[in-house]
Amino acid sequence: MPRIFNYGSCCIDHVYQVPHFVAPGETLSALSYEIYPGGKGLNQSIAAAKAGARVSHIGALGEDGKHLKALLDHHGVDTEHVRITSSASGHAIIQINPEGENAIFIHGGTNLDDHASLLEAGLARAEPGDWLLIQNETSGNLKAIEMAKLRSMRVAFNMAPMNQRALDLPLEDIDLFIVNETEGAALTGRQEPEQILDQVAKTFPDAQIVLTLGEQGAWYQDTKARQHAPARKVQVVDTTGAGDTFTGFFLAGLMNGLEPLASLHQGCAAAGISVERPGAATSIPSLDEVKSQ
Ligand code: RIB
Repeated sequence: MPRIFNYGSCCIDHVYQVPHFVAPGETLSALSYEIYPGGKGLNQSIAAAKAGARVSHIGALGEDGKHLKALLDHHGVDTEHVRITSSASGHAIIQINPEGENAIFIHGGTNLDDHASLLEAGLARAEPGDWLLIQNETSGNLKAIEMAKLRSMRVAFNMAPMNQRALDLPLEDIDLFIVNETEGAALTGRQEPEQILDQVAKTFPDAQIVLTLGEQGAWYQDTKARQHAPARKVQVVDTTGAGDTFTGFFLAGLMNGLEPLASLHQGCAAAGISVERPGAATSIPSLDEVKSQ
């Protein structure tokens, strides 16, 4: 089975339930406060591992984040190249409103250190056909993509959070884009899902793309097919980490030999369960729970 090398962020999530998102100039009392493990990279590594993939995480943490490394270990993620440094880990401040929607800001911390030597060491074991998975919360994605291509790896890019730094990467080297509607619009300049998919087919003709649409399910497209999987109706508690759960379960499905459409169904089912639970990494279901949907 190919291995996933996930070069990704780890964050300490400070999560506040709020009556509404705080407005400019407003001071708002939170209804509750919890600290959860998070970071798009960590969430995706745990999701992929829970879905049965072989996952090596590459990333950096401070002493304050040692428990995040232990959590990755607990879920069977290889952490040989998760570096602990003397500076502060990345963290996120997350507001959750009564509808379960989130508003997040992040401080990069060790996720934005210079990771060049870490990537050299971490990807040295990668073999042709293995996957590099990246998101947009770490500083070394250009180096990671270059190294992956030198090793004939395939590259999956979850373009979250979307910004110009993501768009400036050598996107012609990406084998699989995983984007939501907003990210897809920024990538293509198109607004409607069908237009986004059409434009990706024109600009990146050899790439696969997954376009996630929340309660509208998700689309998959490659050079041969365009397929859709619906989302189940759910009681939303907290949407944080749903996209990460999707990404991990979708990619793990491909690693396990599922057809793309079956992987899409698996990703949607897992994300649906995750939004019914609080937290990011803590909301990721087991493969058995997903299969029993
Ligand atoms: O995708 C959700 C994640 O985004 C949170 O866990 C938070 O850490 C931010 O990185």
